[in-house]
Amino acid sequence: MPRFPDHLTGDGPTNPFPGVRVLERRLGRKIPHQLGSNEGLDMPHRALREHFGDAMVQHAYSYGDAEALGVRQRLSDQQGIPLDALLVDAGADSLIALALRTVAEPGCAVVGTAGTYPTFGYFARGQGCRLVEIAYNEAPGRLAPDLDALARSAHDENARLVYLANPDNPSGHLHDDDAIRRLRAALPEDCWLLLDEAYHDFREDADTPFAREVLPGVIRLRTLSKAHGMAGLRIGYTIAEPETLAMMMKVRIHYAVSTLTQAAAEVVLDHPEETREHIAAVLERRKRLAEYLRGLGAEVLPSDTNFVGIRLPSADLAGRVHKALLDEGKLIARPAHPDLGHVLRITAVEDALVPGRLKILEEALR
Ligand SMILES: Cc1ncc(COP(=O)(O)O)c(C=O)c1O
Repeated sequence: MPRFPDHLTGDGPTNPFPGVRVLERRLGRKIPHQLGSNEGLDMPHRALREHFGDAMVQHAYSYGDAEALGVRQRLSDQQGIPLDALLVDAGADSLIALALRTVAEPGCAVVGTAGTYPTFGYFARGQGCRLVEIAYNEAPGRLAPDLDALARSAHDENARLVYLANPDNPSGHLHDDDAIRRLRAALPEDCWLLLDEAYHDFREDADTPFAREVLPGVIRLRTLSKAHGMAGLRIGYTIAEPETLAMMMKVRIHYAVSTLTQAAAEVVLDHPEETREHIAAVLERRKRLAEYLRGLGAEVLPSDTNFVGIRLPSADLAGRVHKALLDEGKLIARPAHPDLGHVLRITAVEDALVPGRLKILEEALR
């Protein structure tokens, strides 16, 4: 079993404000008179009402459900994930920070891939961890996190945690389920695997028994930012063992997910057909975007996400294309990490496919 820091393994810390929704559940009845939590319950909210309407204002007054039960219940019912293996927070980013806060002390080593989703390294450094970066496995048509090297490094560095985005950003690479199981088995027993599945919903095989499995020693992260289109409202979830989630709850910012966000997520989750329609459209556009880029002679990386990565002959060329497009008000992504300076990432939105939109890239590859 991976370890938790000593300061969390005793009784506390205990959340002093679990909130009225949690209290109602503990008591098994409604509390109609809110006279004690110092919210601005009598604010008229004329301006807000005029701007956003009554329905939104109703969600502005009170602190949210610190346990996000409505959202968790829907995720559990729809995906067959046990309710007590789900924790909701303000997006996958918040969950990365929360996972680090729960398992990593300042000075401990954490391992990730050099050039992968950089927020992990940013938060790890901010937490005082020693970030060890492992090069991607690169070959023609392949840019993949190197699982064997990650596991070796975890042993060599006595790492507390290994981070893997799967599917990966920015490469788009997907390691299959067996590879993830092998990685977990190859890690030191006391090392966590932080498995960032922000792009999970775009996998062709998103709905398998593995997708809903609670994996020992693994903290899985997902988000409603991508397939559910809710990035601005900030909501995501973790799938992990209940004991792990109990530790995360000890250090979680309890009202981080607003009442409005939870209500909006419940509405979106109650209409899964719209999310399915969106995912199908993204997959179709991803295919068209990849074909278009291949047609330009670009080396297109296989992607299981909502974007397509391409590898250019040099970082210099990629830098020039990125800048020239930005000068024209067109923002594509180029990883800041020097190891991936030759990679560009384009989101599979219709705007990217408008004829002439990426003319600068077409000219650069000619
Ligand atoms: C791999 C990965 N993890 C996490 C996130 C952040 O997701 P959220 O909006 O849920 O914080 C992103 C967003 O681009 C991402 O690419």
